[in-house]
Amino acid sequence: MVIPMAAVSCMLAFLLSCLISRASAQVTHSYCDNKEGNYTINSTYYNNLNTLLSKLSSHTEINYGFYNFSYGQNNDKVNAIGLCRGDVEPDECRRCLNDSAATITQLCPNQKEAYLWLKTNECQLSYSPRSIFGVVESFHWFSMKNSHNVTEPDKFNKALSNLMKNLTVVAASGDSRRKYATDSVDASTLQTIYGLVQCTPDLSETDCNRCLDGAIYEISSCCANKKGVRVVRPSCNIRFETYSFYGQTTKLDPDVIPPSPSSPSSFNNIPAKGTCYC
Ligand SMILES: *[C@@H]1O[C@H](CO)[C@@H](O)[C@H](O)[C@H]1NC(C)=O
Ligand SMILES: *[C@@H]1O[C@H](CO)[C@@H](O)[C@H](O)[C@H]1NC(C)=O
Ligand SMILES: *[C@@H]1O[C@H](CO)[C@@H](O)[C@H](O)[C@H]1NC(C)=O
Ligand SMILES: *[C@@H]1O[C@H](CO)[C@@H](O)[C@H](O)[C@H]1NC(C)=O
Ligand SMILES: *[C@@H]1O[C@H](CO)[C@@H](O)[C@H](O)[C@H]1NC(C)=O
Ligand SMILES: *[C@@H]1O[C@H](CO)[C@@H](O)[C@H](O)[C@H]1NC(C)=O
Repeated sequence: MVIPMAAVSCMLAFLLSCLISRASAQVTHSYCDNKEGNYTINSTYYNNLNTLLSKLSSHTEINYGFYNFSYGQNNDKVNAIGLCRGDVEPDECRRCLNDSAATITQLCPNQKEAYLWLKTNECQLSYSPRSIFGVVESFHWFSMKNSHNVTEPDKFNKALSNLMKNLTVVAASGDSRRKYATDSVDASTLQTIYGLVQCTPDLSETDCNRCLDGAIYEISSCCANKKGVRVVRPSCNIRFETYSFYGQTTKLDPDVIPPSPSSPSSFNNIPAKGTCYC
């Protein structure tokens, strides 16, 4: 649920629209993008999209929280990506994506490209007619922050920076099923920082690193010295809090070890337009 927000403008590295809300854990965030065009009801694209979205959560063979599927031909082909947080069980993940499929077509009724984070980022869903697999998407993003300031910023930021660097290395080196890492660190005797980072696992190690580095860099411009921050991009997201917010990472089948994607990458690095929930 998006809380009605007062819009203020922020000057950051680029012009952001900065929406102020209470730091709610349950923000649904969407972008409807018509730069790839619009579709009409009952068109081929419409039918392909609905077929693809209705089938996404029927893939019970997937137990690692990443769904990348296409449907249709030529200009009417739809590519979709669904991603669940690494602690979301497969059934819950499919339920989240199924709910997302119903919601996204209501929020974005005719845009060929759309992004949705349902209840922030237990799962995310996006689709486009263009090729989106293995591509770093950094255009559509948003951030959220806890309004409370940290008490010892120097200590806190040093520990946070180390934690995020370590998590980035672990996540980026994940295989093509999952690129996800969580951990905690004591910033002082009184304060523990809990961190989470995740990339869509179709990214190469290098691209996952780049995406996460960019997201981590955002912390200092949007949310310096805050006790909790999320930076959410279509291809990667980061979060830290001073309380534990993630569950146990779901198990992957140890017998199957697919390689990490290594294809040449394209980096969709148009200066970002973002939204911050302050
Ligand atoms: C898509 O529709 C919007 C209005 O809903 C319109 O402003 C825009 O020009 C359309 N874009 C294309 C590429 O047709
Ligand atoms: C779409 O197709 C359905 C079933 O053929 C029909 O009932 C409906 O009126 C059509 N809608 C539009 C907007 O063309
Ligand atoms: C998916 O959502 C539709 C409604 O949008 C519902 O009818 C269906 O039962 C759901 N399927 C699952 C597996 O949750
Ligand atoms: C946090 O710090 C900022 C900048 O130093 C200050 O403007 C703001 O009032 C502080 N917020 C709280 C809740 O203490
Ligand atoms: C990061 O990793 C290094 C090397 O493994 C380790 O010594 C250090 O304690 C870690 N730091 C954090 C904050 O996790
Ligand atoms: C979908 O993702 C899997 C796992 O990351 C990967 O092995 C596969 O090649 C991807 N499929 C497409 C069409 O990119």
